[in-house]
Amino acid sequence: MKIAFFDSGIGGLSVLHHAMKILPQEEFIFFADEDNVPYGTKTRQEVLSFVDAAFEFLVAQNVSAIVVACNTATSVAVRKMREKYSLPIIGMEPALKVALDTFPNRKVLVAATAITITGKKIRRLIERLHAENFAELKALPMLVEFAERQEFTSAAVENYLRGELNGYDWEKFSSLVLGCTHFNYFKDTFRKILPAHVKILDGNAGTINELIRRTNLQPLTGNRGSVKFFYSQRLVTDAAELERLEKFLRRLDEMYTI
Ligand code: DGL
Repeated sequence: MKIAFFDSGIGGLSVLHHAMKILPQEEFIFFADEDNVPYGTKTRQEVLSFVDAAFEFLVAQNVSAIVVACNTATSVAVRKMREKYSLPIIGMEPALKVALDTFPNRKVLVAATAITITGKKIRRLIERLHAENFAELKALPMLVEFAERQEFTSAAVENYLRGELNGYDWEKFSSLVLGCTHFNYFKDTFRKILPAHVKILDGNAGTINELIRRTNLQPLTGNRGSVKFFYSQRLVTDAAELERLEKFLRRLDEMYTI
């Protein structure tokens, strides 16, 4: 089955990376909207028009499903895309439910982009889970920039995260939920900074499980499936760019079990 993964940039590779491990026989298209990244600091209207253009392109590739591997695009546009297209469209949901089910009555910090944390979608999720007293929201926009330039472990990354995270009383928190797919590249630094009891949760497995459920795919083990990469609507064929993408995938391998 041909399945598209879409993100503002390379964050969504973390979701594809998980899919390639458990659905190795499928044919994947990965669309990074590199002309327009970052989305998180743009207006909702701008993001909607970027997503609209990307969907038009992806639907024309005859894909059987689209995974919106971007929390920001999901927050802004997934409803509208579902109204417009009938193929399965799977969005991202921050793993707040997993955190609250595993650790009831403990606080959870959801880190995401500014658009995601100010959007209605996360508000509705918090209301649905009755998590008003437990969910705190935090934007970490610099991580998107660091990730795009493959700056994963510098002193600047660590100082930024220490500065942003040191104001919390972590004894009250069970988990940090990564509500932006770009944040998966920094799990080692989060792990280094946060107390050992704070779990780091992402929404990747939940999204791929939903993809499997919606498409009746069979999880298997085996070699990596085929994948074509697009930067915005341009097929990536340049060896240096393909190596850039491989470097992201190697980084995600290192972060996979953290
Ligand atoms: N990777 C995206 C997300 O999951 C968006 C990052 C951005 O473009 O600002 O939210």
